[in-house]
Amino acid sequence: METVTFRKMEDGTRDEYLLLQRLEKPHLAGVAKRVLRELAQQGEESMDGYLITRLEHALQGATRAYREGADDDWIVATLVHDIGDGLAPQNHDRFAAEMLRPFVREEVTWVVEHHGAFQMIYYAQHYGWNQHERDKYRDSPYFQSCVDFCARWDQSSFDPDYDSKPLEFFAPMVERVFARKAYDDAVVQPGIVRGLPVLSATAA
Ligand SMILES: [Fe+2]
Ligand SMILES: [Fe+2]
Repeated sequence: METVTFRKMEDGTRDEYLLLQRLEKPHLAGVAKRVLRELAQQGEESMDGYLITRLEHALQGATRAYREGADDDWIVATLVHDIGDGLAPQNHDRFAAEMLRPFVREEVTWVVEHHGAFQMIYYAQHYGWNQHERDKYRDSPYFQSCVDFCARWDQSSFDPDYDSKPLEFFAPMVERVFARKAYDDAVVQPGIVRGLPVLSATAA
């Protein structure tokens, strides 16, 4: 395998840095595979006490999003919204948001970034915390999207009897999203609010 010879970055030559740049391309292209691997891992090593694993929670939320007609941005975001539970449990919402930020709509990143605060409406009173933490964000254009995300796809996805799609079903969507051009304005769509799909009478 081709490698550089430097042992301190400051000693690297231009050719060596060009080599590293070339080798970084396949590395960047491997993000989706590593995301899927981490999700699969969340089916093995998860959080105690719940009826389902973190992987099952992710699949259930993403399946609900898919069945309600959500786009790739919402589905992939729902799939990864708790992916940081292992490595960054205290700030897992921001962890996932930073993974998504270059590749999805700003609205969707914002929702993932703030879902921890918005979820508090469902349980914080039991710990004596502020259940209405989300009210801090009332002025955000994305406020309602985050309310809806939590209500329809996050807090509702802890049911062991729900018929979720398997991880392989979502793999092509994950591949598509992480293959997008990073920080492309056409993808990020700053300031655009689309909301969640309007629920039809047939949506589960
Ligand atoms: Fe979460
Ligand atoms: Fe969650």
